[in-house]
Amino acid sequence: MIKRLNYGMVGGDLNAFIGGVHRVAASFDGRTQLAAGCFNPNAEPNKECGEFLGLDSDRVYKDYVEMAAKESAREDGINFVTIAAPNNMHYLVAKTFLLHGINVLCEKPLSFEVSEGEELKKIANEKGLLFAVNYAYSGNNMVKEARELVEQGVIGDIINVNAEYLQEWLIDDIGAGDNTMNKLSVWRKDPKLSGSSNCVGDIGTHIEHTVSYITGLKVKRLAAKMDYFGQPLDLNANILVEFDNGSHGVFSSSQVCVGHMNGLVVRIFGTKGSIEWVQENPNILSVTLKGKPTQIYNRGMSYVSKRSAQMSRIPSGHPEGLYEAFANIYKVWVNANLKKLNGDEFSKYDDDFPSIDDGIAGVKFVHACLASNKNGGNWVDVD
Ligand SMILES: NC(=O)c1ccc[n+]([C@@H]2O[C@H](COP(=O)([O-])OP(=O)(O)OC[C@H]3O[C@@H](n4cnc5c(N)ncnc54)[C@H](O)[C@@H]3O)[C@@H](O)[C@H]2O)c1
Repeated sequence: MIKRLNYGMVGGDLNAFIGGVHRVAASFDGRTQLAAGCFNPNAEPNKECGEFLGLDSDRVYKDYVEMAAKESAREDGINFVTIAAPNNMHYLVAKTFLLHGINVLCEKPLSFEVSEGEELKKIANEKGLLFAVNYAYSGNNMVKEARELVEQGVIGDIINVNAEYLQEWLIDDIGAGDNTMNKLSVWRKDPKLSGSSNCVGDIGTHIEHTVSYITGLKVKRLAAKMDYFGQPLDLNANILVEFDNGSHGVFSSSQVCVGHMNGLVVRIFGTKGSIEWVQENPNILSVTLKGKPTQIYNRGMSYVSKRSAQMSRIPSGHPEGLYEAFANIYKVWVNANLKKLNGDEFSKYDDDFPSIDDGIAGVKFVHACLASNKNGGNWVDVD
């Protein structure tokens, strides 16, 4: 029986933001080993990163094409690849690894075009490979609790959603033209590297996915107003959405809201009550039943559901955060890969990681926002 997986990484050198978070998260449960990588397109930082991470030099590759070819030819080749490179690479890198028979965990957004996402799904299905898209907030323990409460009907039928993801980190881009200082913003504001949207593609899709995960609803159509403030890509967006159960919601996505750092907040309103989850205070969930005072659910306490309890790592009161949310995605993902390798049947929650369909839904959401904004904020079908 196989108990551990080798994996590789594309992107995520020593100066990158999210690659290091992936490596820490993947290591939480001791069932993965980073075995190969192409962390940077330039030889020196790529080598430096491989050495720092203790990789064999022959498994630090000059590019992802060589990596996929050589790893797929090895007996001890990687079981999956994590793609933590800028957006423009996701489709090409994912396709290359799939074609070499390697499972893929890809950062969001899945691809620039919907057709590219659908092509990746087709290849993965034809080859019987697993594919995850890292909408990591759905790995949060109390997001899983929220989903469970909605599924159990605790707040009744969903009648309204109000969700926001507010950041301030690009405020200096307003009116700055090309003269922007923020390191992380450099590729995010370049359409060739980021895609056709910055703010909605980068964080708006997290709103869309987190809401969809908790409620089980899909955005059917939307009306969006996006603000560019003189930049090539959007920095701010207000989006009115209609879900497939006929209810409506408001998504507010911004990188220019002073005073907000990483403010993902999701409020779900039902006929019997409401739920609120705040990413910057992720260990609690506020639940209010009609006519009752608000109850605070704490992660890891005896009253939470099995679904979230089994993802709790340390006793309640010890904060779990972004690393644990990523680690929870990896926990389910690695378990699914091991089950598949060992020929075991999947049971409930074994596929509870963000799927390629979620990735495609995210790309459709971005395109619908752009189309609506272009038409003056008119309603646009997402599918
Ligand atoms: N799920 C989340 O919560 C989350 C959070 C942050 C970033 N992301 C996503 O992760 C991705 C990376 O974002 P980031 O902030 O870490 O970016 P970053 O700029 O900090 O890092 C990008 C890395 O990719 C590497 N890279 C670039 N071109 C490459 C190539 N041709 N071959 C190999 N490596 C290459 C760079 O050297 C760098 O190490 C983006 O798609 C972003 O949307 C997701």
